[in-house]
Amino acid sequence: MFAITGITGKVGGEVARNLLAGNQPVRAVVRDLRKGEAWAQLGCDLAHADIHDAGALTSAFKGAESVFVLVPPNFDPSPDFHEARATAATLRSALAAAHPGRVVYLSTIGAQATQSNLLTQHTIIEQVLGELSMPITLLRPGWFMENCSWDVASATNDGVILSFLQPIDKPVPMVAAADIGRVAAELLQETWKGHRVVELEGPHRVTPNEIATTFADLLGRPVRMEPVPRETWESLFKSQGMKNPTSRIQMLDGFNEGWIEFESSESGSRKGRVALEAVLQTLIESRRKS
Ligand SMILES: NC(=O)c1ccc[n+]([C@@H]2O[C@H](COP(=O)([O-])OP(=O)(O)OC[C@H]3O[C@@H](n4cnc5c(N)ncnc54)[C@H](OP(=O)(O)O)[C@@H]3O)[C@@H](O)[C@H]2O)c1
Repeated sequence: MFAITGITGKVGGEVARNLLAGNQPVRAVVRDLRKGEAWAQLGCDLAHADIHDAGALTSAFKGAESVFVLVPPNFDPSPDFHEARATAATLRSALAAAHPGRVVYLSTIGAQATQSNLLTQHTIIEQVLGELSMPITLLRPGWFMENCSWDVASATNDGVILSFLQPIDKPVPMVAAADIGRVAAELLQETWKGHRVVELEGPHRVTPNEIATTFADLLGRPVRMEPVPRETWESLFKSQGMKNPTSRIQMLDGFNEGWIEFESSESGSRKGRVALEAVLQTLIESRRKS
């Protein structure tokens, strides 16, 4: 049996769908049982656990052949990342007590970076999980193509997308949630010894300009990328309600300056199959339906 956290989200849902398609038994780990009903109807066993509850996670992970661990995103952590440290301690305690056969942890590109930034949360959790004795895969995907969901309205209505990724002709390692879920499901079913890192990006690197031209093709209207001046980011993010924008700014700097990169570089990363166009098409359709 495969226990899947984050199953009601983008990547966890893809992981579970891939396992179910292969007739594998899935335990859906949900924090809200009502949200688990759809998964129960697909044949999943249900476990009720919040990511902050070590006891409930222990029960949810017990007896699992493999566990997929996804930590919910925190875009505005405290400067000392105490939230990630607490989550790491909870996960270590639950995994040590339940002792599943194997673990796949959804980390991020750049988790090995030594400069502090938003992704340091994953660096912290990777290090703490590294203290466990069971086989662990640290799955480090690139920038999610689905982050473009934030751009669908402005591309459609104004033909302009604001870009923090700069310069706008610089290729960025991006990947679709469908590729991450498919690869994670494959990894969960593999056997391996010790701790390993798997880095994953899409079929080719994507520039912000390519995002604009792809939206333009799909929407049948001109769309252009507009870089947001670096000196305005802090006040802009604060005006949007962020308390500590520094780590997000550092992460964007890391992508733009190139120090957020795969440890094995572009030549060593696995390549997915799903193209940007397919992801943007889905995002546009789901906005039309909503
Ligand atoms: N976006 C990127 O470019 C990028 C790149 C690399 C790595 N990542 C990492 O990918 C992960 C996010 O994956 P995603 O986009 O698939 O997530 P998502 O779609 O935002 O889904 C988040 C999932 O976490 C669950 N969740 C939220 N709070 C929880 C809690 N307190 N206890 C238990 N479960 C909780 C949600 O359940 P509910 O439905 O109940 O809310 C949902 O299933 C993050 O760790 C992020 O750092 C993201």
